[in-house]
Amino acid sequence: MSSYENYTHKSRNYDKTREPVGTEISVGCFAHAPVPLDRTVILDAGCGTGNYSQAMLDYVGRIEAVDMNPGMLEVAAQKLAEAKDEGRISFHSARIDELPFEDEYFDGVMINQVLHHLPDEAAKDFPAHRRVFAEFARVLKSGGVLVVNTCSQEQLRHGYWHYSLIPEAADALRARYVPLDELAGILSDSGFAYRGRFAPVDAPVQGESYFDPRGPLSKEWRDGDSVWSLVSEDRLDRTISRIQDLDERGELEAFMARNDALRPHVGQAMVLFASRE
Ligand SMILES: C[S@@+](CC[C@H](N)C(=O)[O-])C[C@H]1O[C@@H](n2cnc3c(N)ncnc32)[C@H](O)[C@@H]1O
Repeated sequence: MSSYENYTHKSRNYDKTREPVGTEISVGCFAHAPVPLDRTVILDAGCGTGNYSQAMLDYVGRIEAVDMNPGMLEVAAQKLAEAKDEGRISFHSARIDELPFEDEYFDGVMINQVLHHLPDEAAKDFPAHRRVFAEFARVLKSGGVLVVNTCSQEQLRHGYWHYSLIPEAADALRARYVPLDELAGILSDSGFAYRGRFAPVDAPVQGESYFDPRGPLSKEWRDGDSVWSLVSEDRLDRTISRIQDLDERGELEAFMARNDALRPHVGQAMVLFASRE
């Protein structure tokens, strides 16, 4: 379960503002698996409402989708009912560090925007991340592919225009993301060969709705980014007043453009590619 977000409440709104950004990169990574792409068996670890599974089903053989949150799993199972009936995807309620699969079961594992939800401690060298990657190493075949979709520190600083409105929450969120060089080190320690990182710079994680300068005024919009769960009530009230004020003065669009200037260069998500040694 996420250590700070209530996904049971968020599951109904999640898909309104989320896109499976980076799928084309993941497809390219899984094409390096030891079996042909359309025969690969892939784990979607922390599948949420199944957006990435849905996108990957066009390419891979079969998907086992795992999440701890019943609300998210229910939305995913409804959305992908046809593929489920065809035996192309199965859903499992489980923790990603205690997977219900035997050793060397998968050709590929993907984990999309989940790692920052782990309760972890940098001072102890990220034991929760290490447990998750050890479990992925156990269930992957030799040569199997691991795809980690996450965010870099730079993307969290410059890739989301609205984070400038909520600096304390943005700092708290950034502290939850392991810096990518350290993440690559943890992958190596866990039995993976690290093969590179790739950023889909053009695609906002919230799709077109990201460009709505009045978006943060609506709960539905805020539910698409867990950073808002780290915002205090007082800060939320002040943020809403600030947006309304900027809007009344005709400055809201310019504010958004100014704080979005670097996003087209750094992007919002990073895909790490590794393979099981
Ligand atoms: C931000 S959502 C991402 C969902 C999906 N991967 C996507 O990108 O659309 C994070 C998901 O990870 C799940 N999750 C977090 N920690 C987990 C854990 N230890 N075991 C299983 N699922 C977990 C949450 O329940 C939630 O559905």
